[in-house]
Amino acid sequence: MADYVAAIDQGTTSTRFMIFDHGGNEVGRHQLEHEQIMPKAGWVEHSPVEIWERTRSVIATAMNQHHLAASDLAALGITNQRETTLVWNRRTGRPYYNAIVWQDTRTDRIASALEREGKGEVIRAKAGLPPATYFAAGKVQWILENVDGVRADAERGDALFGTMDTWVLWNLTGGPRGGVHITDVTNASRTMLMDLRTLAWDDELLSFFSIPRAMLPEIKPSSEPAGYGLSPDVSPLAGVPISGILGDQQAATVGQVCFAEGEAKNTYGTGNFLLLNTGNRPVRSQHGLLTTVAYQFAGQDPVYALEGSIAVTGSAVQWLRDQLHIIGDAAASETLARRVEDSAGVYFVPAFSGLFAPYWRSDARGAIVGLARFHNDAHIARATLEAICYQSRDVVEAMAKDSGVDLAVLKVDGGVTANSLCMQTQADVLGVPVIRPQVAETTALGAAYAAGLAVGFWRDTDELRANWNQAHRWDPEWDEDRRESGYADWKRAVERTLDWVKV
Ligand code: G3P
Repeated sequence: MADYVAAIDQGTTSTRFMIFDHGGNEVGRHQLEHEQIMPKAGWVEHSPVEIWERTRSVIATAMNQHHLAASDLAALGITNQRETTLVWNRRTGRPYYNAIVWQDTRTDRIASALEREGKGEVIRAKAGLPPATYFAAGKVQWILENVDGVRADAERGDALFGTMDTWVLWNLTGGPRGGVHITDVTNASRTMLMDLRTLAWDDELLSFFSIPRAMLPEIKPSSEPAGYGLSPDVSPLAGVPISGILGDQQAATVGQVCFAEGEAKNTYGTGNFLLLNTGNRPVRSQHGLLTTVAYQFAGQDPVYALEGSIAVTGSAVQWLRDQLHIIGDAAASETLARRVEDSAGVYFVPAFSGLFAPYWRSDARGAIVGLARFHNDAHIARATLEAICYQSRDVVEAMAKDSGVDLAVLKVDGGVTANSLCMQTQADVLGVPVIRPQVAETTALGAAYAAGLAVGFWRDTDELRANWNQAHRWDPEWDEDRRESGYADWKRAVERTLDWVKV
């Protein structure tokens, strides 16, 4: 058998291709960013054509740099930014409109109308999600209503809907010349269109958004021994079975080997996503969390998770860099924040896309509160890192109430975990230790695991567990008083951001 398994990670800000060995160690990678298109406040788009070109390019570069051939790869996995939605033409391969990104809030009226019309409870009960701008269905509805010709083509089966996994797979498997139109259960569970129990598209949910069935991909397990199709068009991968697909946060859950009920991970990327494995039972949240599919390996029952999704964490650091220009790169946020002891009473609530879990308030907008003439850029940087941690605490509190599980330790991964001050603050704000594994790229690793399990490259999940090694641990240092008064002030700051825009 070949020595390696690879994964494409099509994320919000970049696309990467990563190659792993049997020990789960990184063998090679290449990564390219793509443009964030923001035509107006609240709108965020990506060019699907640019993303597909970047995908081809990162594959070719990584394979060449490491002198690898398709025969070195036992399998390929795909993982992706979830919910980001596009519609393209089956015959030409051309998108009708840019991909509408998960952070985009243009569908706030669609979401609030669902609640007003009493459809919210049905969506919660069947799909496990609150009606919100975050999920795919409202974005599909917007494209159907606002782009000429799409509805007629969709009804004829010529216009295809997909999230980024589906787009990448369709192109990898031939595009207009026979590309397969498939998604996996984890991505489908983020649309508001799939019934969590049947794992099938639901007619009543489809009717809420007037979405024709003919445009939907087929739903498959996240790991498929027969493969979803081969990759004839992308020469460095010709013949490699594509046998794993997972939304990126579910992939990180697999990469962090959270296979037992009660195990959880928190990924710090553009946003933060805390997932708790709840076993074969979909647990209904009473406290603002989502119920989602964690993974379904072929031939097995699905495993569910409770998820706390936070829209803006790492992207708040990018905002300091790109909009405020107070840092040159993300790493400088730590250096700048360390110039002060604390944020001196400043709180930054980065509600750029409204507030996600546990609030689900699309009427919220960002605020920096507690400012005095005394404060400077270092306090703002420190408040930004603290906001990442306080938002995670909001979600951890909701998780404890919903599941009865009090986390003894928090497993973390993702780009922001390179920021040691932020991770120390996270331990301080939560009052539990925070631990990070040696392989920080758990998202790509998880997709590789799903693909490799399917083809027998890895025997079982015990083998994957043995690959997990702790690299860092941060222990809480704040006393209880500081922890609780800081959190109480954070909650007051959140209150200030609510009801800011009319939807
Ligand atoms: O739900 C959105 C999430 O999948 C995006 O993840 O890592 O691309 O920011 P990331």
